[in-house]
Amino acid sequence: ENWSSHGERIIIFSLILRMLNVSLVLSHTENLLILTVATKQTEGFQRFRRSAQFFNYKVQVLGLDEEWQGGDDENPAGGGQKVRLLKSALKQYADKEDLVILFIDSYDVLFASGPAELLKKFKQAKSKVVFSAENYIYPDRKLEAKYPQVRDGKRFLGSGGFIGYAPNLKKLVEEWKGHDDDSDQLFYTNVFLDPEKRVGVARFWDQHVIGPSGCHALQNLYLTGFKDEALPMILIGIFIEQPTPFLSQFFLRLRNLHYPKQRIQLFIHNHVSKAEYLAVKVIGPDDEVENAEARNLGMDLCRKDPDCDYYFSLDAEIVLKNTETLRILIEQNKLVIAPLVSRHEKLWSNFWGALSPDGYYARSEDYVDVVQRRRVGLWNVPYISSVYLVKAKALRLELDQGDLFRNGKLDADMAFCHNVRNQGVFMYLTNRHEFGHILSLENYQTTHLHNDLWQIFSNPEDWREKYIHENYTAALKGKLVEMPCPDVYWFPIFTDTACDELVEEMEHYGQWSTGDNTDSRIQGGYENVPTIDIHMNQIGFEREWYKFLLDYIAPITEKLYPGYYTKTQFELAFVVRYKPDEQPSLMPHHDASTFTINIALNRVGIDYEGGGCRFLRYNCSIRAPRKGWTLMHPGRLTHYHEGLPTTKGTRYIAVSFLDP
Ligand SMILES: *[C@@H]1O[C@H](CO)[C@@H](O)[C@H](O)[C@H]1NC(C)=O
Ligand SMILES: *[C@@H]1O[C@H](CO)[C@@H](O)[C@H](O)[C@H]1NC(C)=O
Repeated sequence: ENWSSHGERIIIFSLILRMLNVSLVLSHTENLLILTVATKQTEGFQRFRRSAQFFNYKVQVLGLDEEWQGGDDENPAGGGQKVRLLKSALKQYADKEDLVILFIDSYDVLFASGPAELLKKFKQAKSKVVFSAENYIYPDRKLEAKYPQVRDGKRFLGSGGFIGYAPNLKKLVEEWKGHDDDSDQLFYTNVFLDPEKRVGVARFWDQHVIGPSGCHALQNLYLTGFKDEALPMILIGIFIEQPTPFLSQFFLRLRNLHYPKQRIQLFIHNHVSKAEYLAVKVIGPDDEVENAEARNLGMDLCRKDPDCDYYFSLDAEIVLKNTETLRILIEQNKLVIAPLVSRHEKLWSNFWGALSPDGYYARSEDYVDVVQRRRVGLWNVPYISSVYLVKAKALRLELDQGDLFRNGKLDADMAFCHNVRNQGVFMYLTNRHEFGHILSLENYQTTHLHNDLWQIFSNPEDWREKYIHENYTAALKGKLVEMPCPDVYWFPIFTDTACDELVEEMEHYGQWSTGDNTDSRIQGGYENVPTIDIHMNQIGFEREWYKFLLDYIAPITEKLYPGYYTKTQFELAFVVRYKPDEQPSLMPHHDASTFTINIALNRVGIDYEGGGCRFLRYNCSIRAPRKGWTLMHPGRLTHYHEGLPTTKGTRYIAVSFLDP
């Protein structure tokens, strides 16, 4: 249950042997002592202690509640304080010749097998003192040439763990005269590289960095039993850091989160505001607050508000579909926890499984399995972003520095994670439920009135959710498809929003034709049948419209006209406007298409009166078109038809002639 960063290590002995030797343990534990330095009881330390207790190790903790002086970011070498504490602790064991002492870091270590196994391995090494080994030389690279070559395994000494007989260890640290922030690793390295002092180092245990481990036996404090007023108060920080599609959906989902609004406060970094919540604080672009500062501000609001129990950070590109997210995260009872979200069918997600030695992204061996939920659980990870829950208690204690989102040149998210790790606070990721996904912000143009309409390529699932009628799927299965006239099909295709935005986009463009460009409508054979219209290509929507026809119209065509496979090619696709004083109707004509779709974009009886369509050959009319529903009928020859007069208001329809 851990990750690695610059030389942090986890010891894993043999997992298989873990349960074997309860009886052996009792006889051996007398001769084995674990010494560790922990100035704070971090989550890592508590985990270490739990694993030690599980295997019955005898542990002595040095330096608890002492101020840590042994190095920080600016002086990462450090660690001298550990040597001083060890040196002083070893005095009392100087004459215990049989006592084996393991000196080990605790924040990033857990035991995976018992004392008997540990002692057995130590004795097999046939040395008085054995150090752990590492792949990287640190902190003085110039010493590399002095290191003996090794045939296999790791070559360099690490100071994160070593084991030896008490008198030998005492001798080892006797000469320590360094400062608390001097490097312990350099000290041990020099001892090791000095042939006179060398005490015998073996590359001893395998240091496996264990990927985050699944954990199914979690406590579930089910919140459903609570009354709403008793639920924790959450401050939600919302960050719209760049132009983001589907924002209205974002706020709709926020509204639909299953959590009482009276227990939610909002902090929004942008200028979109929402009423109805307990409190809303909005930082707009005019306030000139940049990303890191805004995030610090949001967190600080919660930190300083004694009523705030949790801080939930949410970026606008996160599509949080699971309405139970807040409750699920709270139930996990962690200081910092993120729900897994990833790009649709991509490996891009909001966490890292591992860090590279210099603190950047590294792929852990189980990363793909976690993202794809082939392994589910609660994972301890080194980096999270975009959406996470933080306990206010932690903000006031471990994470009380006001500037969590800054650290040197790191971006805000990396700085945050870096600082959280430095405070010994674990970041968890849960993929035990589906939570949602991350929008793609690439190719988001903001030059249109309704930019989301153009997102059918970049974010097709979100486009579908916003624009395709909820009953389209049923229509695709043949349900809900009506046939009001022979061979004229009628089914739901667009949401109200799709209809409204398309009409508004056309009106915004405003250059309605005066009726001389619709040369492909043929009346009784040959004459022009002009309409007042705007073509999809005039608003730069041709590619997107084609994609829509291909994805949504073609599949249904193939169902309804078996044996006919459309390429949904079109030369003409446009929105027509009918008004009593402009153009109220359309005279009988044939369409220059194999088949035609005709989508009603507004509501009869409300937006306009009259209208409809009559197929002359069948003496059959559709007088009450339904908004968002399309008519689909054969063009040419058979389906000679006319547009019935609109008597009041304005009627809009979207028409495409397919396979001309
Ligand atoms: C979808 O179909 C169901 C069942 O016929 C109906 O109740 C519902 O109102 C329809 N949805 C819309 C948006 O028309
Ligand atoms: C067409 O239908 C209407 C009623 O739907 C009927 O009154 C009319 O006589 C029909 N016309 C023809 C030519 O059949």
